[in-house]
Amino acid sequence: MTTTALRLQRPLADRWTLASPEELEESIKTSKTALGDRLLILGHHYQRDEVIRWADSIGDSFKLARFAADDQVATDIVFCGVHFMAESADVLTGDHQRVLLPDLNAGCSMADMADIDQVEEAWESLADVTDVERIVPITYMNSSAALKAFVGRHGGAVCTSSNAAAILRWALDRGDKVLFVPDQHLGRNTGFQMGYDHADMRVWDPRQELGGLSPADVRAATFLLWKGHCSVHQRFQVAHIERARLDHPDVRVIVHPECSHDVVSHADEVGSTEYILAAVERAPAGSVLAIGTEVHMVQRLARLHPDKTVFTLDPLICPCSTMFRIDEPHLAWVLDELVEGRTVNQITVDADTAEWARVALQRMLDIT
Ligand code: 13P
Ligand code: SF4
Repeated sequence: MTTTALRLQRPLADRWTLASPEELEESIKTSKTALGDRLLILGHHYQRDEVIRWADSIGDSFKLARFAADDQVATDIVFCGVHFMAESADVLTGDHQRVLLPDLNAGCSMADMADIDQVEEAWESLADVTDVERIVPITYMNSSAALKAFVGRHGGAVCTSSNAAAILRWALDRGDKVLFVPDQHLGRNTGFQMGYDHADMRVWDPRQELGGLSPADVRAATFLLWKGHCSVHQRFQVAHIERARLDHPDVRVIVHPECSHDVVSHADEVGSTEYILAAVERAPAGSVLAIGTEVHMVQRLARLHPDKTVFTLDPLICPCSTMFRIDEPHLAWVLDELVEGRTVNQITVDADTAEWARVALQRMLDIT
């Protein structure tokens, strides 16, 4: 059990909610100066500009966890991202470091689709119909520390969207099948990338008995894909790609592997947030790039590359609403409290969970 299992953000006082943008800017600047090297602010690519401008380091979920782990000086790490990212940072940092999430309601709806109790139940059900010793559980980085620990205890590993193929290859060298949690799309897309097809995959629906599968289905599957998804990436449709190609015949379509397999197979390139960033950077001036990922990142890329046309694949705005919960008032509040000697919104993973989650994360590092 993590100590933050129940996450309830208390409302902020007027001092922060009613502050003008100028007052918030002044407040954050003053706190940062006062806290000096003991403070490290991390920002995920999906954060809004008003927040990301304060980040000491920007990156994807994995890179940010590494930044936190590698910083030996900072004792207070303010994580402008979502809950599972702050947990991973806590798992990878030393005992002298504290990780703070400015708004406790900044969760991840996909991570929440794989509750540890449901995964443990699934494992027991699988044991009734097949040899679970031959199943390797793999969890995407976007999952709770409790789930990472489960995977660590059962001989599995964590993966990210950039190393999923290497991790799944490793898993299938050790066992006959993989239970892939929580994003069915990343699991399916990676399976196809490795040369498997639909016949090798089954979707495990945690709301149904035996995942909605027959024992024969379970035994036939190489990939048991947990029925989870990202509501942001699932919005992208093949019709969006067709529209973009019609409007811009030279367009390159680049999407995140959390998109559906249909979308991924119609795109020109697929990759993690770091991959997308690099792809836009290396595209020659004049390129037209339609991007299938969170809109704040796409809009920032468009601003950073005025010599290229960069736009979101989905014409209807498509933000990650939980990432969006982190705003300047919450950041200013957390920093003000630190200056006053109080730690608020600390994300702590208990020692046993952290130990096994670290095993699963370390396996990933050793494999890739
Ligand atoms: P990255 O690991 O690529 O940063 O992705 C995180 C995420 O939440 C994507 O939706
Ligand atoms: Fe979770 Fe999707 Fe938001 Fe990423 S974009 S944090 S997967 S809800």
